Amino acid sequence: MKIKVEPGKCQGHARCTTLAPDIFELDDDGYIAISEAEISPDQEAIARRAVRACPERALNLEEK
Ligand code: F3S
Repeated sequence: MKIKVEPGKCQGHARCTTLAPDIFELDDDGYIAISEAEISPDQEAIARRAVRACPERALNLEEK
């Protein structure tokens, strides 16, 4: 499973990094600093919560 970040959609709400700081990181301006992340099986539940928590729908799950 992978998370992809929709370019330009992040508005810096930081809910993703609050929920899952091991997956997401912010840049110096407070916007998401990654464009995608590989999700290990033990991170799946928290990754799904972070995707749902983003009010801008900037995060997309890719199941494989
Ligand atoms: Fe950005 Fe959404 Fe996270 S707006 S900082 S991707 S919660």
